[in-house]
Amino acid sequence: MQNLKNAPIGIFDSGIGGLTVAKAVIEALPNEDIIYFGDTARVPYGIKSEETIRTYALQITNFLLKKKVKMILIACNTVSASAKEEIIRAAGDIPVLDVISAGSRNAVSLPNHRHVGVIGTLATVNSNAYPEAIHAFDPTIKISQQACPLLVPLAEEGWIDNEVAKQTLHYYLDEFDESGIQSLILGCTHYPLFKEVIPKVLKNGNIEIIDSAESIAASAKTKLEELDLLNQTGGDFQCFVSDRPQRFHELAERFLGKSLNGVEVVNLD
Ligand code: DGL
Repeated sequence: MQNLKNAPIGIFDSGIGGLTVAKAVIEALPNEDIIYFGDTARVPYGIKSEETIRTYALQITNFLLKKKVKMILIACNTVSASAKEEIIRAAGDIPVLDVISAGSRNAVSLPNHRHVGVIGTLATVNSNAYPEAIHAFDPTIKISQQACPLLVPLAEEGWIDNEVAKQTLHYYLDEFDESGIQSLILGCTHYPLFKEVIPKVLKNGNIEIIDSAESIAASAKTKLEELDLLNQTGGDFQCFVSDRPQRFHELAERFLGKSLNGVEVVNLD
């Protein structure tokens, strides 16, 4: 029987953005083996229907289960919003963590933060998943949401701090400045790339930025400790995509902070 401690952690996303989560997990858990899947053939998910997102997410879950992962991290906010329950059911005994639960828990843990801002894709914002997750912890917290669909293509182009990026962020975030939010959840895999520039755009310098990637990495560490499943001897990072491995390879460094050894293409069924 496989030693579960040495089994890899499976992380998946609609594409490359989930590498921000992989980066945070590598920092928090450097001795874990990681299998990453990015659905580059079908990204973006943020503008698709819940039914389609669920179908894709279950195919990826099955792929990771075949790889004998010991834990699944849903790096994609859009998948977390639309398919979390289905993935948990499909995974059986394998623990499943998602960015929305982790980011929401982090947001409510901040003392005296009564008004939380959330930015994400259209699908994430329309699903109301962040407000529901936050209100499950504390129903009295006020929440303001804003979909920011243009930030995903900007991040993929590497336009993260030029004038276009700043203007786009102003367009999306200026109302937040007036609404009195005290924290801002980056509710999309790509948004941590704007972490440096967002505080420069916001007029209120006291808004705390919550990076869901860091939140889920901390939750994964706690969960593995609880289950006594921490690996002390790993550290491999394997990447699988459904299309265009070369482009994934080229962009990976921007999201992961280092270059990849290789990327393999797989066909999901
Ligand atoms: N990964 C998605 C998310 O976190 C962003 C990209 C997409 O729309 O697929 O919501």
